[in-house]
Amino acid sequence: MTVDAKQKFRPDYHFTPQSHWMNDPNGMVFFKGEYHLFYQHHPDGTTWGPMHWGHAVSKDLVAWEHRPIALYPDEHGMIFSGSAVVDWKDTSGFFDGEPGLVAIFTHHDQVPGTEHARQRQSLAYSADSGKTWLKYEGNPVLEHEKYVDFRDPKVFWHEPSQQWTMILASGQTISIYNSPNLRDWRFASEFGTGIGFHGGVWECPDLFPLSVDGDAAKTKWVMLVSIGDSPAYVEGSRTQYFTGDFDGSTFVSDEDSEVMRWLDYGRDNYAGVSWSDIPAEDGRRLYLGWMSNWKYANLTPTDGWRSAMTIPRELSLETRGGAVTLVQRPAREMEQARKVVASVRETTLQEARELVTGLQLDSYEWIIDFDTASGGPFGVKVRVSDEQETVIGYDLELGELFIDRTCSGQVDFHAVFAGRHSVKLEPVDGRVQLRVYVDRSSVEVFAGDGQAVITDLIFPDPGAQGLELFAGAGNAVLHTLEIYALSSAK
Ligand code: FRU
Repeated sequence: MTVDAKQKFRPDYHFTPQSHWMNDPNGMVFFKGEYHLFYQHHPDGTTWGPMHWGHAVSKDLVAWEHRPIALYPDEHGMIFSGSAVVDWKDTSGFFDGEPGLVAIFTHHDQVPGTEHARQRQSLAYSADSGKTWLKYEGNPVLEHEKYVDFRDPKVFWHEPSQQWTMILASGQTISIYNSPNLRDWRFASEFGTGIGFHGGVWECPDLFPLSVDGDAAKTKWVMLVSIGDSPAYVEGSRTQYFTGDFDGSTFVSDEDSEVMRWLDYGRDNYAGVSWSDIPAEDGRRLYLGWMSNWKYANLTPTDGWRSAMTIPRELSLETRGGAVTLVQRPAREMEQARKVVASVRETTLQEARELVTGLQLDSYEWIIDFDTASGGPFGVKVRVSDEQETVIGYDLELGELFIDRTCSGQVDFHAVFAGRHSVKLEPVDGRVQLRVYVDRSSVEVFAGDGQAVITDLIFPDPGAQGLELFAGAGNAVLHTLEIYALSSAK
């Protein structure tokens, strides 16, 4: 099979920039029927460089339409990460009383006459549903005397206190500010000293309420904090979360200071945040992350473009094992994108093998439900050729879900890329269900009904398209096996 070198590894149903470099998702907001996705973008290179906001929109979270670059660097510097909101009541005064979109982002430059970095928060606004953007002439609107790392504002309207809240990363804490109009900001509090993981700079926070177990009377706030790469940790950059209470100015965490909770146990889900302004009648908290890792993001073996986003996911809080836990499931729109390739219930390993032998697929969704009575380890192998395979499985003895990408294809572009990544998980009613999303350069596995998630990049040969199954006992029982092709992101 010949593949255009530039398209090699280009995902089928994951969002990627048309060309050049992408990192964090930015400014995710829903307005007038469109999901906006902005992203950190270097339009002249395939490695990180002067940051712009690239832009795309979708009506269904599956098909994306590329839009022109929304924000270019200016006299205040590069455009780093940030958020966007619908200013429904025109509190900013930018829109003549109508609703409009306001982006709140970090301007990154240097203190004049020095080489010292400076990060300040600024605004841009759009009165035509995100098509064109104007920078606010009063920029920047927020700076800090002490913090050099002072960035990635996420803004939301706090209904009970009738004001805007901004949370942003400040060194290794999160600072919280309030505003009546998005232009004037007042310091409220700082969170994070002595709690959580401090092995890297804190970045890209998010803060939102979710009902616990679907009970609106029991609401908790979730804080996401991405932690930058550090040479001391093989994991590289990753995202932690806290649950707690928030009164409009202060976040109080439920966790003890020793407890570390990670959003994803793979290596490649970073800087993710949630969409703003999802209509109340929908009510979901929708999220996606940048599918890479600062450890090797600039080195991945793609040509002419670099990086993809995860699939969109819905976040919920559910009590699991006595603890309020952040659960992730693929957004239901991913189900609309399906075309059935294979589907059977109550089958055996042998019959299932017959079904998948001969299939050649490089991008698909695979749901498989194993009975633990069959013995372990069990799981699937994807993107298989004579020399390559990515193993996704469950180790019954260790009680853990894993992805092993040691032999997944190109792995030698960085010393820690090859490896096995795992997370503890208990079977439920003697079963373990794997829901696996495979694409040309990634695997995402959701297990334990969204409790255990591993997202990993892989770079197999385009021709490595085999599917395999394995289980401890030859006569293993499978409760479900479904394979779906998915429609493209375009
Ligand atoms: C996270 C990050 C942000 C910053 C942006 C720069 O990946 O480092 O903190 O705003 O990337 O591109």
